[in-house]
Amino acid sequence: MAIISSKKQPQEPHRQPKQRREVTSAPPQDNLLQAEAAVDEGKQEESIRPQRFADYIGQKDLKDVLDIAIKAAKSRGEVLDHLLLYGPPGLGKTTMAMILASEMGVNCKITSAPALERPRDIVGLLVNLKPGDVLFIDEIHRLSRMTEEILYPAMEDYRLDITIGKGSSTKTRSIPLSKFTLVGATTRAGALTSPLRDRFGLIQKLRFYEVDELSKIVLRSAQLLQTAITEDGATEVARRSRGTPRIANRLLKRVRDYAQVKSFAEINEKVAAEGLQLFQVDPCGLDWTDRRMLSVIIEQFNGGPVGLETIAAATGEDTQTIEEVYEPYLMQIGYLSRTTRGRVATPAAYKHLGFKPPNEQLSLLP
Ligand SMILES: Nc1ncnc2c1ncn2[C@@H]1O[C@H](COP(=O)(O)OP(=O)(O)OP(=O)(O)O)[C@@H](O)[C@H]1O
Ligand SMILES: [Mg+2]
Repeated sequence: MAIISSKKQPQEPHRQPKQRREVTSAPPQDNLLQAEAAVDEGKQEESIRPQRFADYIGQKDLKDVLDIAIKAAKSRGEVLDHLLLYGPPGLGKTTMAMILASEMGVNCKITSAPALERPRDIVGLLVNLKPGDVLFIDEIHRLSRMTEEILYPAMEDYRLDITIGKGSSTKTRSIPLSKFTLVGATTRAGALTSPLRDRFGLIQKLRFYEVDELSKIVLRSAQLLQTAITEDGATEVARRSRGTPRIANRLLKRVRDYAQVKSFAEINEKVAAEGLQLFQVDPCGLDWTDRRMLSVIIEQFNGGPVGLETIAAATGEDTQTIEEVYEPYLMQIGYLSRTTRGRVATPAAYKHLGFKPPNEQLSLLP
């Protein structure tokens, strides 16, 4: 039951009705701005996924670290250290794992933790690895305890420990494995158990992309899709892609459809803006949940601070998704700040949603 105190009703912020962007009560079905891959998107992504280091745009720090690691491993004739990649969805974790394998000249076996439920699933994969192979495990924070325990000696000593028999006649046999590189990917580094995390030699975070980096990604993808686009057009798409290459590529495809149907020869700034407006893509790339989070903080709690649980209840998302998927982007663009007492909407967020920022409201008081 919701308890509403009549005395402490939060003050209604001053609105600018004409500019205000409505946050409706239900999220739209077709969510163009969702960073996770859509069900049918995997195959389409393959055609534009970069295959070489040189085509992997941005993430300079990550690339520098990996470049050294690859060169060192190659010159010593050793396998690459186990690598954990973490960061929000759609930033290029799977892509980087595949590039690593091709730069090392080895195979890349791709799987994800939910597919490794039974011990024999991981055992089957491990015994079939060839020397130097990359084993990529997506969503690695979701491994079952048994699978994780099989991985410990495999990662540390390239050894598989198998227990045979039951009760007093139990024996453990060790099977040697080929030396391999485990690349784990997760959106939630904090959810990994520490014994697993400690077995990775390299732990690297992927960050959101800058607009100029995303624009380069859009230009490259447009070329592969044989679509004419100007630099301004690419920047317009990039600005709305919430720092995420997967979203940039998806928006590019929508704008390409729009330009084709309307018979525009190329995608320039105006065509991109019109097309994306038609699909109701926010000029800063905010999606329904972002806008709802901010409008709850502003409208119901005077701009904050508001606890994470409250925001989760208001948006219908779980607290972890909010912390790991939504908040990082809102903080990156300066719309949200995290304080010890809760989340606070910044004046920029007020302006974006069409509210008057709190200090402007104060200056209106007599
Ligand atoms: N640095 C990059 N340069 C160019 N394109 C990129 C880059 N990173 C990602 N992409 C594009 O974005 C798409 C999504 O990337 P990828 O599948 O690697 O993301 P991910 O981090 O594995 O996402 P998830 O967490 O959902 O598994 C790829 O198809 C690729 O085309
Ligand atoms: Mg992936």
